Amino acid sequence: MNATTPGHCAPSEAPRDALAPVYAQYPFEVDHAEGVWLINARGERLLDLYGGHAVAALGYGHPGWTEALAAQARACQFQTNALPMAIRARAAQRLLAFSQLELASVFLVNSGAEANENALRLALRVTARPHVAALEGAFHGRTAAAAAVTWGSEAWYGFPRKPFDVSFMPRHEPGAIAEHVTERTAAVIVEPVQGLAGAVDLGAPYLAALRERCDRVGALLIFDEVQCGLGRVGAPFAATLYGVTPDLLTTAKALGNGFPCAALLTSARVSAALKVGELGTTYGGGPMACAALLACIEAIESQRLLENVRHMSETIRRTCHVGPVSAIQGEGLLLGLRMRRPAKQIQAELLRRGILAGTASDPQVLRLLPPFILQAAHVELLRRALADIGE
Ligand SMILES: Cc1ncc(COP(=O)(O)O)c(C=O)c1O
Repeated sequence: MNATTPGHCAPSEAPRDALAPVYAQYPFEVDHAEGVWLINARGERLLDLYGGHAVAALGYGHPGWTEALAAQARACQFQTNALPMAIRARAAQRLLAFSQLELASVFLVNSGAEANENALRLALRVTARPHVAALEGAFHGRTAAAAAVTWGSEAWYGFPRKPFDVSFMPRHEPGAIAEHVTERTAAVIVEPVQGLAGAVDLGAPYLAALRERCDRVGALLIFDEVQCGLGRVGAPFAATLYGVTPDLLTTAKALGNGFPCAALLTSARVSAALKVGELGTTYGGGPMACAALLACIEAIESQRLLENVRHMSETIRRTCHVGPVSAIQGEGLLLGLRMRRPAKQIQAELLRRGILAGTASDPQVLRLLPPFILQAAHVELLRRALADIGE
């Protein structure tokens, strides 16, 4: 795929009064997309280094993924989990094999928050304990349990109380773990590379220390790999990369490449405690989602995309430390560019130059979550734009 010069961004004119206000709107209305490019109705192009919140792992218009969905729509677009389907069993089996982790079963759901909600519920039920430890800066979703372990959710939580006791640990302080993870603790939930916080990599020693403490006190370890999983860190999962296996692992986003699809992977101990009727979902594990999941893993493996993620990550680190960038953090293609000026300003300046990047809860960090098919020519466009913006 050839990189072309990004186009001018047109302000949106479409009326959208019927939509609830969700996020502040970017001044570019997507009409269609191809590869790593978003294109408006006037044919102007925006280089997408944000991937729709880390979702579009294969980019846009991927032929294998598109054909897999079309074929499954023709064969059977939906059936409930109460009716066995070979494609559902294949999806679960392929995901477990892809993970290279010693995990035993897969519960297919629809979103990251739903996967985390179920992970927390199972951990509390299996251990019969009342407390969960999470990490400062964490984002786990907007449902009652997932938001309860989300840092700073008080600003929008809305429910009168949290469903269990929660404490937040400081990041990168192994010495603080024992105080927070005790015999009362059902689970520790962490993103191994924190996404919204600004691509904050917790690293192998810290994750191993969490594993060790959980084992010591009988708590379960939950890895939220909704954003960092399924290849984004240049390995199947961050758990694989760091050699630390959790008891429960959640993943979503890249898993479906835009078709809603999420999963909760559980250890043999947790799976053994599950009884029929305890878990449920209408749409989770639907055949279209399974086709999307299988097509994503197939593309990652056959196109050697993990290698490309590592290569592009290294290229960004090597070449994009220019202009307003003072440091680069994160793993694979979940990167945080630390700016000398507020990241929002740089984001706006990049947009004016035809490049879409994300921000983070850290106001100095610009977040990159591009498709795994990114090429060196696209990175060069970013480098030039940053150099042009200047310090
Ligand atoms: C790490 C992490 N966990 C959970 C979620 C929630 O996922 P969803 O929006 O699919 O519910 C997100 C979404 O950004 C996330 O980044």
